[in-house]
Order: sequence, then structure tokens, then C-alpha cells
Amino acid sequence: MTRFPKNFLWGGATAANQCEGAYNVDGRGLANVDVVPVGEERLAIITGQRKMVDFEEGYFYPAKDSIDMYHHYKEDIALFAEMGFKTYRLSIAWTRIFPKGDEVEPNEKGLEFYEKLFKECHKYGIEPLVTITHFDCPMHLIEEYGGWRNRKMLVFYERLCRTLFARYKGLVRYWLTFKEINMILHAPFMGAGLYFEEGENQEQVKYQAAHHELVASAIAIKIAHEIDPENKVGCMLAAGQYYPNTSHPRDYWAALQEDRENYFFIDVQARGTYPNYAKKKWERLGIDVKMTDEDLDLLRAYTVDFISFSYYSSRVASGDPEVQEKTEGNIFASLKNPYLESSEWGWQIDPLGLRITLNAIWDRYQKPMFIVENGLGAIDKPDETGHVADDYRIDYLRKHIAAMKDAILEDGVELLGYTTWGCIDLVSAGTGEMKKRYGFIYVDRDNEGRGSLKRFKKKSFDWYKQVIASNGEDLD
Ligand code: BG6
Repeated sequence: MTRFPKNFLWGGATAANQCEGAYNVDGRGLANVDVVPVGEERLAIITGQRKMVDFEEGYFYPAKDSIDMYHHYKEDIALFAEMGFKTYRLSIAWTRIFPKGDEVEPNEKGLEFYEKLFKECHKYGIEPLVTITHFDCPMHLIEEYGGWRNRKMLVFYERLCRTLFARYKGLVRYWLTFKEINMILHAPFMGAGLYFEEGENQEQVKYQAAHHELVASAIAIKIAHEIDPENKVGCMLAAGQYYPNTSHPRDYWAALQEDRENYFFIDVQARGTYPNYAKKKWERLGIDVKMTDEDLDLLRAYTVDFISFSYYSSRVASGDPEVQEKTEGNIFASLKNPYLESSEWGWQIDPLGLRITLNAIWDRYQKPMFIVENGLGAIDKPDETGHVADDYRIDYLRKHIAAMKDAILEDGVELLGYTTWGCIDLVSAGTGEMKKRYGFIYVDRDNEGRGSLKRFKKKSFDWYKQVIASNGEDLD
């Protein structure tokens, strides 16, 4: 066999807060993702160290308008269709459906918006892949209940899921419960609506919130299958295997520990129980996660149908405290790998690392996988017609797709599909910049929010079209 599977789901991915804009249109409520400004304080806010609960004077909030996909979705989906997308991964803005989060009745306008969007996808034979929460939590739930630290979130999330599964039955079959669930540990305000009070045991709060999300995810799987047995529900990991910095055993041990910190979440979602290494860690750190027997039953009974993940880079760990040279990565930094090149933002580029990660996840769980994010954030320079010759992006994607192909054809991993991140330029989650672009489609908007919002096809647009048309055979 020299081919990708016949029904392989090629496509691209976006997230509501990074592309929709229209933050206060048609009844949408305020969310954590809205109040994260560009600038020096962004990281402190994302990590819950600096509290920002509303728009403040003197800051620029890029998610407010973003690329205004709310009003451009037809044009954008037509472009995805022109590239031949089989799937389009997007996320739901919780506050369009339940503006405050704790209402009993949903906002019809919000439901209508996604219904129209899904129908638009189906018009072109594009299968929607929906992330229920992508760094997204209603601000009211954070201020009133403390976000995911509070068990009551289970009720609100269940209501959201029930509403979505019932309304979009027949329109959506692929769902992800929480995007990059392991980000709770690294970006707790974004991942779980958490900010911290002085002197609080932050690890305790984060793992309690994680438990609530894990149970919520199991409940979502239960309901999804009850409402429509055709539904397939996945978890999502911010992946990237850790390499030991040297062959010294203590470096290997450090890499294993780091990997476990991330796999912890997927171990629960894919296997149904808390791993012993986590229980031991909690014991050592004096962390006491409150859970009921019913919670444990739910986790055991409702494991995921597939495992999705984002992959941008591998990572490096060392057991030697003297080794400190770090490089930027997806939200959290890693030690620098001297064998790899880096993007303009310092994210290291490692196509073979994707094959390694695919194999590691497959060996660990033996469940079908889905790569739902991969791509290169770069500065694009359009010519006077708006065209961008982004050969660097083509080069990055070509090598990663080739590595993925090796994992399927040579190693036999089971992969459902591949969606590149930010298939259309959108606001960066990490920095809030517009100039960090991932798309096949250039959007005329700059870091300060200026621009016509016009869309232009980049060179990579035609390249990806040909990749999809040849089902991954023609990568040149
Ligand atoms: C992923 C997120 O972790 O990385 C996306 O799911 C994000 O939301 C992507 O945009 C790329 O990160 P950044 O910081 O370059 O936008």
C-alpha cells in the first residue's frame, strides 16, 4: 500500500475567538478569550496571574473583531471548498449559545449562526469537526462561580453539549470536548477560566479543575452517543514528544516525567482511570482532588472514540539543573534542541518529531488519531496584488505531511485526518498578533486592527489543493 486511506479527512482548523470577531453581535456574551489584550501583560493574564475580567482602558483586544468570519463565513468556506477540503475544524463560542453560561434557555440567534455555517459546509461536501470549547469560557461563569474550579460547571457544560448535540444532529458527527486539555496546567485562565488569589495552592486548583473537565468530557461522550450513535467524540492534546537532552539516564527520566504531565489527561480520557503515577504525584504534593464514585464510573464507562492532537514541535527535557537554554514553543517554552531550526517565533521545526509523536500516541492507546493542528506561523509579505509567495510554509507542511505518511504507511498507525492550523490567517492565541500568520488565505488586517479584511490566495493555496486532490501523493 502506498496511499493515504481513501476517506482521509484533509482540511484546516480555526477557533471561534481567533476568527469570528462580532464579539457582541446577536446576543453573544463576554468570554475569557475576549478580555486578553495584546502586549506585555498577555502571558500573565493567560496564566491566571494577572486578573482582567473586562475590557480596560489603554489596551487593544484583537478578538473583538478578529478577521470577522462571523460575516465572511460563506466566502471563507467557498475558498476552503475550492482547496478541496474534506473537513473544516471550527469551535463554538459558548457565549453565542449561552451568553452568560448559566441560563436554561439557549440564544436562538447563536444556534442559527452555526446551523447556517454547518449547512454551508455540507453544501460543498465538507464534514464539520467541532471543538466544543477552544480556550473559551463565559466571563459570567468565571466571576460568579470561579470557572472550572467549581463543580457546578459540569451542569452548565452538560447543558451546552445537550443543546449542541440535539440541534446539530445529522449536521455534525465529529466532536472534540476540550481543545488541548493539558493547557490547563500551562494557561489556566484560557484552559479553565482560572485566576489565582495570593497564597493559593495553584496546583491543587488546576488539578481540581482538570478533574471537572475530565468528568464533563465523559458526560459529553455519554450524551453524544445517546443522542446520535453516529457521533464520534475525541479528546485533544497539545502534543510534541519530549526528547532527553543527552543519553544520561536522568535526562531520559526527566523527559518521561514531562511526557506524563501531558499524557495524564489522555490517559484518563482514553483508558478511563487515573494513572498511578498521578495519584503518587498528588500524594507527594499534598494535592487532594475531590471526586465521587459516580465521577469515577463515568470516566471508566465513557472513554473517547479517537484521540486528536496539535503538533507544532517536539520538546526537550533535562535532569541537569545547569542546562537552561530555552526556546519558545506553543504557550510553554522547552529546552533548545541544537539539531533543529526554528520559526521566526523560536518554535523549533521537527517533521520527524511528528512521526515519533504519532507512534508514541498510537503505542500508548491504540485508538484512531486525528492531527487537528499543525503549521508554521510566519510573517508574510504580500506583493502589490495581495499575493504571498509562501514557499517556507509549503516546505514546512510538505515535510510534516511526508512524516505523517511514513507513520501511516511504514509504521501502521491509524489516522483519520489532518487539519492544518489557521487555514485562513487569524489572530495568534499566544501573542494576539495578526502578523503571525498560518493561512493558505491572506487576510488584509494588521496587528493594530487596520485593513480591508479582504481575502487573497497565497501560493500555498494551490499547493494544498493539489495535495488534497492527489490524496497526499503529490507533495511537490
Ligand atoms: C494551538 C492553539 O495551541 O496553537 C491555537 O490551539 C493557536 O489556538 C495555535 O493559535 C498556534 O499558536 P499561536 O500562539 O501561534 O497562535
